[in-house]
Amino acid sequence: MFASYHRARLCAFLTLALAATVLVSCAQAGPFNVYLTYPGDPSTTITVNFQTNKQDRETEVYVDTVPRDGRKDAYARRVEGESTTIPGLPVQRTIHYAMVDGLTPDTTYYFIAGNDSAGFSKEQSFRTIPAGGSPIRFVAGGDMDATRLTRRLLKVAARQNPQFAIVGGDIAYANGDVKNYRNWDRWFANWDRYMRTSEGHRIPIVAAIGNHETNKVESEVYAQRAPFYYAYFGRQADVTYFDRTFGSLFALIVLDSGHIAPHDGEQRAWLAETLARHADVPYRFAVYHVPLYPSHRGFEGEQSANGRTHWGPLFDEHRLTTAFENHDHTLKRTKLLKNNEVSSEGTLYLGDGSWGVKPRDVDADRRWYEESAAGKGHVWVVDVSAQGVTYRALGVRGKVLDSAETPAPSRP
Ligand SMILES: [Fe+2]
Repeated sequence: MFASYHRARLCAFLTLALAATVLVSCAQAGPFNVYLTYPGDPSTTITVNFQTNKQDRETEVYVDTVPRDGRKDAYARRVEGESTTIPGLPVQRTIHYAMVDGLTPDTTYYFIAGNDSAGFSKEQSFRTIPAGGSPIRFVAGGDMDATRLTRRLLKVAARQNPQFAIVGGDIAYANGDVKNYRNWDRWFANWDRYMRTSEGHRIPIVAAIGNHETNKVESEVYAQRAPFYYAYFGRQADVTYFDRTFGSLFALIVLDSGHIAPHDGEQRAWLAETLARHADVPYRFAVYHVPLYPSHRGFEGEQSANGRTHWGPLFDEHRLTTAFENHDHTLKRTKLLKNNEVSSEGTLYLGDGSWGVKPRDVDADRRWYEESAAGKGHVWVVDVSAQGVTYRALGVRGKVLDSAETPAPSRP
């Protein structure tokens, strides 16, 4: 009697465990971690990224300007992509990506992604960036992880209906360690769940690298030092710095603050050439992880000092409009700065990466370069138009915690 009771309990437990296993594997059966990045001009190109837990290699994306309800033969275009894996990952995982080009600016597209072996995603949508001078809204922040604060701020960010999002490094806090793949899965699950506009469009990601994307492996090889960032965001460029132009309004320069590429050398030469190339756009923005003008850490920190030495003079010479800084887990807005001094001709530095991780304290007294600083979680919402740029830092309740403006540039 006693034995049969325990056998029944054991059977019930095994049945529940089996059901849970089936549920988990069902949840991961098709493509997952679907997200969008920009391989080039964000008005005419997009990269559809997704992952599968099979040994499949094929990557297919079906695209159209009208909904097709997932019937793949009905879509106007079929795009073949490529796939890769991360060596040493403790689970089966294929990382797929397909670049879709020839898109029409300011247009909604519907797509499904997958392959015959793994199946296809549900139909999803995105909208291309307008060409020309139409206003553009984006959100920017960094130092995210997957905390309760991250989720709250993701909801706030998505409610602004941004056309894309900048994540300025320290994204999933996996430290380039393949054992920490679940950190990225949690991060993508949050992005998938929350980062859609009110019309349901996915919000594309522009991702910069931070220190928590890298490990301590002694190697010059980018893929070994930052295996997840390389596999998940490496289609943005072959190196960890690149630029994009948004309509005729602004250039966005994404930099590596010394995590894979040093501030000087090739990256510095590329930055000089790139800033010069964008001399004629109304606004030039940069995003990178470690601040030139920190609000929590010391001013003389090595990476901050390297940024001021190697990049600062170029920002000054080419009149960088605004730099989006991160890493210090605070809310910060500087005065306009040029040549390491306050100057009405200078660059605005906004930061400092507090999109989910625990905010840090700032000094009791403002530093000479700060206009405002506070230990508050936030995301920056940026509206760019021919008439100027407005910046608003929104907190967890969507309240404006700080704001600033850049007037339209006066033309000579
Ligand atoms: Fe950091």
